[in-house]
Amino acid sequence: MLLMERVNKTFELGGGTLKRALVDVNLVANEGDFITIVGSNGAGKSTLLNMVAGVYLPDSGKIRVNGSEITNWPEHKRARYIGRVFQDPMMGTAGSMTIEENLAMAFKRGQRRGLRLGVGRNRAKFRAVLEELGLGLESRLKDPVRLLSGGQRQSLTLMMATLTAPKILLLDEHTAALDPKTAATIIELTKSIVENHSLTVLMVTHNLKQALEVGNRTIMMHDGEIVLDLQGKEREETSVDSLLEMFSRVKKERFLDDRALLA
Ligand SMILES: Nc1ncnc2c1ncn2[C@@H]1O[C@H](COP(=O)(O)OP(=O)(O)OP(=O)(O)O)[C@@H](O)[C@H]1O
Ligand SMILES: [Mg+2]
Repeated sequence: MLLMERVNKTFELGGGTLKRALVDVNLVANEGDFITIVGSNGAGKSTLLNMVAGVYLPDSGKIRVNGSEITNWPEHKRARYIGRVFQDPMMGTAGSMTIEENLAMAFKRGQRRGLRLGVGRNRAKFRAVLEELGLGLESRLKDPVRLLSGGQRQSLTLMMATLTAPKILLLDEHTAALDPKTAATIIELTKSIVENHSLTVLMVTHNLKQALEVGNRTIMMHDGEIVLDLQGKEREETSVDSLLEMFSRVKKERFLDDRALLA
């Protein structure tokens, strides 16, 4: 379970301007929750994921995973519990290293013992996980990752992110840079990995249809706040059009609120 309690994060932009990227964010994600996150550019979606991953520490508030408070844990200490896939297929894997070296690194993530990567010892396991992908990568263990296509690389990243069975999987527009067919394949792969490991997932997407179809919950962010949390019947009955409508309504209401404050 992931719990965020009144989490705040303000960034200092150029010229001393302050940007409140997260404002008193509360979120409870139960084990097995697969939450899709929508919201306009700059709404705070990536910052929310960065808070969970420990890329930045919050200015205030608490973050708990399965009852342990991790609020001030550095990123590397959280790595064992948290898997992550970014929008850019170039991130998340080391291009100059081979497929098996990348897998060995992922396998060791969050473990302190020993410096050797244990490539040879785990080769059979690596082959087995790559076979699951169905991309033929199991016969290319010694190829450097830079030779893979974006989709192949993103599949590998996804596999690596979940290799050590994390508690939480963070996906930040992880299909945005892929062609529609490859994106659909990665989404199917995501679903099957999540089901097999019963992970708690936060997935950012700009695709509203995908946001409503994948997972069991959808949250909408605006200006650093969670302004909508859809699940169950209410979510089932929400169409892309009505989600868009909610989006515009929130924007308008906030705009009017701001005007009222200024008046
Ligand atoms: N490291 C940083 N330093 C300064 N400002 C930042 C930093 N990270 C995020 N911000 C600011 O915080 C706000 C929220 O950014 P964030 O990246 O979370 O948005 P987002 O919802 O992921 O947007 P997008 O859909 O464009 O990816 C933005 O105004 C952004 O400029
Ligand atoms: Mg983002």
